[in-house]
Amino acid sequence: MIWKFITFFVRKLDPENAHKITLLALKFGLHPRLQQVEIKTKIKNLEFSNPLGIAAGFDKNAEVIKKIHSLNFGFSEVGTITPFSQYGNLKPRVFRLEEDKAIINRNGFNNLGMIKAKKKLEKYRIKFPVGSEFLVGINIGPNKDSLDRFNDYEILSENLSEFADYIAINISSPNTPNLRDFHETKHLKKVIMSVKNGILKSKNSNLKVPVFLKIAPDITSNDLESIIKISSQKNITGLIISNTTIKRKKKLKSPNMKELGGLSGAPLFLKSTRLLSLANQIIKKNNYKLYLIAVGGVSDCQSAYAKILCGAHLIQLYTSMTYEGPLIANKITKGLLSLMKRDNVININDIRGSVKNPEIAMKIAINGFK
Ligand SMILES: Cc1cc2nc3c(=O)[nH]c(=O)nc-3n(C[C@H](O)[C@H](O)[C@H](O)COP(=O)(O)O)c2cc1C
Repeated sequence: MIWKFITFFVRKLDPENAHKITLLALKFGLHPRLQQVEIKTKIKNLEFSNPLGIAAGFDKNAEVIKKIHSLNFGFSEVGTITPFSQYGNLKPRVFRLEEDKAIINRNGFNNLGMIKAKKKLEKYRIKFPVGSEFLVGINIGPNKDSLDRFNDYEILSENLSEFADYIAINISSPNTPNLRDFHETKHLKKVIMSVKNGILKSKNSNLKVPVFLKIAPDITSNDLESIIKISSQKNITGLIISNTTIKRKKKLKSPNMKELGGLSGAPLFLKSTRLLSLANQIIKKNNYKLYLIAVGGVSDCQSAYAKILCGAHLIQLYTSMTYEGPLIANKITKGLLSLMKRDNVININDIRGSVKNPEIAMKIAINGFK
């Protein structure tokens, strides 16, 4: 009750200040104390205590990793981290769409830069080495005015991969001009090679650190097919589907719908889940070994379950936490356990990818398999 009350008041603040206060509260230990919920999940050598993570953008500078664990998330993706610190776009740049349970942001990779993040990660890893119970992905992207963006990816993976349980290559923020061009075959191959070169040059003893590619929801099925093919050829571990969308549905109600930037939250659910399902089908058909992290509009156990039914190995969220507050991961993971019990599911892999259509998946998540 108290956390609902606090969330209600924090939501009265401007979104960026609300976020700052949330991070401060977490740093000072002002958060719920929860018992761990376990839904053990394994991807290659990565063992997750549960499959729900916090998406990139929440802990941009790796400041509250341990606190996110105590909120019952199974992993955190820190970043996006760029080589140099960056202010980002002019404020205001984050907008709530209350009526739509959504956010539009045009932050533009505001972060304190690689060196500061590295220090934070170094300190965190003294107590919790790579492979510890709570996993940490590091999301990397180039500076806006960089003269060589490929080099940025290389420097970032060279410096940060030793602290990462996985690296997430961000080619999909809509707020860094032309970043999404990296979805094109020629560029994508070069981006992946840059990250791999960085890992080879790094102090990382694990040269096989998993590498995920975070993609945009606004791509065609042909684009997706070629991204998957290249990812498989280049030994990418998997895809994160998806980042925010630049498209606006007519159905949006909030006056803020006209703001420029990436839309996240409830209106992104169907779009990102359709792409996830399509990716799962392409991977299955071709027998590729690629894992899928699903993100976009997850707000309760049903939407998380639907993502698993459509092919997700892991799930992430961001926007719904700003609406629902710090108990959300606890609620979703407990809810997932009860849905699994209802459907006699012992391991989420038993149902993963069993449904193609997100709307049907949602119906099953609500009513069970009948
Ligand atoms: C305020 C805000 C900042 C974000 N910053 C990043 C970022 O730095 N890097 C990134 O890869 N994604 C970023 N995202 C996108 C999220 O990680 C996620 O892909 C997207 O919001 C969809 O998930 P959701 O509907 O659960 O929010 C951001 C999202 C929001 C709302």
